[in-house]
Amino acid sequence: MDKIVIGNLKMSMTKNDVSDYLKDMKNLTNKNVVICPTSIYIPYFLNQPYKACLQNIYFGDEGHYTGEISPRQAISMGISYALVGHSERRKYLKETDEDINKKILEAAKYGMTSIVCIGEMLKEKKINKIKKILKQQILEDFKNVPLDRVIIAYEPVWAIGTDELPTNKVIEELVDFIKNEIKKIYQFENTRVIYGGSINKENVKIIKNIENIDGILVGESATRSEEFLEIIDTYLK
Ligand code: PGA
Repeated sequence: MDKIVIGNLKMSMTKNDVSDYLKDMKNLTNKNVVICPTSIYIPYFLNQPYKACLQNIYFGDEGHYTGEISPRQAISMGISYALVGHSERRKYLKETDEDINKKILEAAKYGMTSIVCIGEMLKEKKINKIKKILKQQILEDFKNVPLDRVIIAYEPVWAIGTDELPTNKVIEELVDFIKNEIKKIYQFENTRVIYGGSINKENVKIIKNIENIDGILVGESATRSEEFLEIIDTYLK
């Protein structure tokens, strides 16, 4: 399967910044790119060479849920990707694994692909609980889920926005672990797993050498169009 680059723009940029960003992104030729802008800007990111992705999705289809966006609504706008369970949402919005499971299921019902973030916190890493945490997230997040509608983003929480990354060897080992657990628990063979956390235009040259990942998820560095274009070029070349 072709490798993919995903940019998570988080809650950055005002309308004018977005306008400049979009102009620069017109230079993108590679189609295996997905961009997750703040949701109010999504219409600007549609019908482009890259795909637009929501940063979050709701698990209902319609009703009295102020502030939420449902997969049914997303699909009606031509949006077929959503980030689910980003660690910032788990932490600040108190999203649980049960919520995440429901979101993936609802999104899949409408044919959407969920990019699901899993990964350990620093305190869990310190006490050697990485695999235990990953396994627990795999068991709870993906229960009854059609896994062909999922891209798993392995994002160690301690590596997000910190400029600290695991070594290639560690990423490779944990991505293998994730793929094997999915195989054992759900008998699903073709899980796509990408890596995210502190990727920039320099370290992407090293990360590029990891063979068992299916792509990368870039946060902060994706908000700078020039750097993001360079990262895409380096990684997908
Ligand atoms: P970062 O964020 O690249 O800024 O570390 C990654 C993410 O939050 O997905």
